[in-house]
Amino acid sequence: MNPILPPFPHTRLRRMRRTAALRDLAQEHRLSVKDMIWPIFITDVPGADVEVPSMPGVVRRTLEGAVRAAEEAAKLGIPAICLFPYTDPAVKTEACEEAWNPENITNRVIRAIKAEVPEIAIMTDIALDPYNANGHDGLVRDGIILNDETVECLVKMGIAQAEAGADILGPSDMMDGRITALRSALEAAGHADVTILSYAAKYASGFYGPFRDAVGATGALKGDKKTYQMNPGNSDEAIRLVARDLSEGADMVMVKPGMPYLDICHRVKEQFGVPTYAYQVSGEYAMIMAAVKNGWLDHEKVMLESLMSFRRAGCDGVLTYFAREAAKLLGNG
Ligand code: PBG
Repeated sequence: MNPILPPFPHTRLRRMRRTAALRDLAQEHRLSVKDMIWPIFITDVPGADVEVPSMPGVVRRTLEGAVRAAEEAAKLGIPAICLFPYTDPAVKTEACEEAWNPENITNRVIRAIKAEVPEIAIMTDIALDPYNANGHDGLVRDGIILNDETVECLVKMGIAQAEAGADILGPSDMMDGRITALRSALEAAGHADVTILSYAAKYASGFYGPFRDAVGATGALKGDKKTYQMNPGNSDEAIRLVARDLSEGADMVMVKPGMPYLDICHRVKEQFGVPTYAYQVSGEYAMIMAAVKNGWLDHEKVMLESLMSFRRAGCDGVLTYFAREAAKLLGNG
């Protein structure tokens, strides 16, 4: 693919790096606010709308706060926000019924944002963990995660979110068969236009720790998620999962976490050429912010460089807790 270069000194690759103008002309990838999805945490638990200790600068928001955040995001040109609920431990059960309650915090926030900020796309999370007494993404019986029974719950949850007005459903549960089930149910319920961004290649990762604090799942989780989330030692399996989810009706796919799995992002985009997203997860954010707080890394530089890595790896976009700060620097373009 590369032309044969004449030998030095006729080839001097530093020539194109000499000035900012030349560097601009030679730049292959650019960051844009239009490629970002901003995850926000929401709650209706009194007093819980505070900063998440392991995620400096990230707060849980009330319904009203979520609407203001959506407004701010829309003004900054961020095309989508993604909602994650922190729920009252009292509503968590082993059957997880609150997950598909049309009046749960997520569904109320969707309706409120749709009424006041209709231009922003709303993405949701489909998994049972915020509503599950044992913190897992699926139903648990005798210590076993039940696949097919969980899928039935996820469908009810997704339909409730679609009815509330969600634009993008994000199944993050890693059960088998959930995309087919969701897609069929959406068609049958008159929601043929609702899109699915499948968390197709989601690894069993230690980088989700701060998120579990943010949604209040840390204390609840019994055991780990290795029987449904991927083994970090696998790469071919990610390709099979993406192929499977696309064949079942996913519109977009995601790799998660982000930076430790850029090789997977690259393989997925090269192989399928479909809208490919990465989730720069809570632990990645926490690592950067911890170093920034210590004065060890430069906030702006490292934030933007980390976001650029996703573009270079081939991602069409990224879910990132940095979306708002990055948007302020990048402008509304
Ligand atoms: C829940 C879910 C998780 C994340 C998004 N959805 C946590 C988990 O699977 O345990 C993690 C996001 C982050 O760490 O920022 N299914």
